[in-house]
Amino acid sequence: MTPPSTPDHFAIAIDGPAASGKSTIARELAKRLGLIMVNSGAMYRAVTWQVIQHQLDPHDATAVIGLMDQLDIRCGDDGSTSTITINGIDPGDALRSPEVNASVSAIAAIPEVRARLVALQRDYLKRANVVMEGRDIGSVVFPDTPYKIYVDAAEHVRAARRVDMGEVDSVAKRDAADSRRTTAPLIVADGATVLDNSGHTVESALEATLEILKQQGLPI
Ligand code: DC
Repeated sequence: MTPPSTPDHFAIAIDGPAASGKSTIARELAKRLGLIMVNSGAMYRAVTWQVIQHQLDPHDATAVIGLMDQLDIRCGDDGSTSTITINGIDPGDALRSPEVNASVSAIAAIPEVRARLVALQRDYLKRANVVMEGRDIGSVVFPDTPYKIYVDAAEHVRAARRVDMGEVDSVAKRDAADSRRTTAPLIVADGATVLDNSGHTVESALEATLEILKQQGLPI
C-alpha cells in the first residue's frame, strides 16, 4: 500500500497503548485546532462487533474476511469527530462492550482486515485535516506525516482509567497482543515524540502536545 499524495491536507498521528489518554488528547487537539478527530480503533471495533453478531470465531481469519466482504463500512464525520456505520447501522455503545474489548485484538491482527480499514483511514485526508488516533497511524497509515506523537502512561494509571470509565477491559492483555502481532504492531513510529501522560491533567497534556507539534514544525 502506497500512502496517498495529499498536498492539501495534513494528518497528526497519535498512537499509543490502550487507555493511555490518546483519545482525550486527540479530541482536545481537534477542538483547539479545528481538525476532524478520527478514532481508528472504532473501525476495528465495528468489524469485531459484526463478527460477534454473526457468532464467528474471531481467530478464524477466513470466516472473518468472508464476512467483511459482505459489510458496507462507511466512515464519515459529524464536523468534528469520525462516524461509522456498518450496513447502515451505527453500532454506538456496542463498540465498547466487554465482548468487543476481548476480541478486537484478534480481529486487528488479520492483515486483510487492516488493509481495508487503512484504506478508509487514508480516505479522510482527501477531505479534511485530521488528528487520527490508533496504533499504527504514524508507522503505517501516514508514515510521511511530520506530526507524530506516541502517548504512553504507566500500566496502573491505564488500568485505573478503564475502571473509571466503567469498562471491563483487560488492557495489559490487549496491549501485549497489539504489540506482538506481525502486521503493523504497536510501536513508537520513526520520528514520533513520546509523551508520558501518567501525571498530566487534560489541560497540561494538551499544552505538552501542542509544544511537541510546534517543535515538529506545525505552524501554530
Ligand atoms: O483504540 P482502541 O482501544 O479503541 O482500539 C481497539 C483495538 O483496535 C486495539 O486493541 C487494537 C486495534 N487497533 C489497531 O490495531 N490499529 C489501530 N490503528 C487502532 C486500533
